[in-house]
Amino acid sequence: MAPRSLVAGNWKMNGVKSSVSELEALIQMVNDGDKADCDVLICPPATLVDRFVGVADGSLVNIGAQDCHTNTSGAHTGDIAANMVADLGAGYIIVGHSERRADHGETSDLVNNKAEAVLTENLTAIICVGETEAERKAGDTLKVVVADQLANSVPESATPENTIIAYEPVWAIGTGLTPTVDDVAEVHTAIRAALVERFGDGVGNGFAILYGGSVKPTNAKELMAADNVNGALVGGASLKATDFNGIIDAYR
Ligand code: 13P
Repeated sequence: MAPRSLVAGNWKMNGVKSSVSELEALIQMVNDGDKADCDVLICPPATLVDRFVGVADGSLVNIGAQDCHTNTSGAHTGDIAANMVADLGAGYIIVGHSERRADHGETSDLVNNKAEAVLTENLTAIICVGETEAERKAGDTLKVVVADQLANSVPESATPENTIIAYEPVWAIGTGLTPTVDDVAEVHTAIRAALVERFGDGVGNGFAILYGGSVKPTNAKELMAADNVNGALVGGASLKATDFNGIIDAYR
């Protein structure tokens, strides 16, 4: 089955209680505007997940979290478990974002275990992969992204129903730089081929593969039209409802 597209917003470490007004504005645009042929997701900081789930209840906007621990409970100060996110009624958890790989030394093996924890709770895991500028310049993009990160971060129990892949070149995040559409298509097509090889034709072709890194209303339509791109993972431009809605427009 063809993947269902998703436009997802990652708010990162942004947002306080009053930011709920942006979510309310977005819900209005998504629910009352032209229907988009994609799912819509906002992942606020953990402090806002409960509030956002309540506000988004019954709307077309889904809510998720940005990270979780591998364990279900225990002595892990500051961490949150996937079952705690599930308990709030959120449906998705991002794992392996490059900022967590860089800031917290997360390896693909750890990301694999985190994704496994997400799937155990019957939530959807959004597993992020992406090369640094140095890796791209060295010609190592596919080796890093596909042969290493994708192969090692995606657990055996992944299916198109419970797992989404997000390709986010590190050098494109928050910089205003984006790869060319051809470059995006090349990496996404290589990711698709690896998923087909590992999971078989029917299953491998069903996974949604998001692009992330400086997606804006002005470039979304072009990027979303690239081969094997099934949506976007958006940072900065997801913080304002009008900008994010302008990206969702790529699916209207
Ligand atoms: P920007 O859209 O701000 O470049 O961030 C992308 C990202 O990291 C989403 O997870």
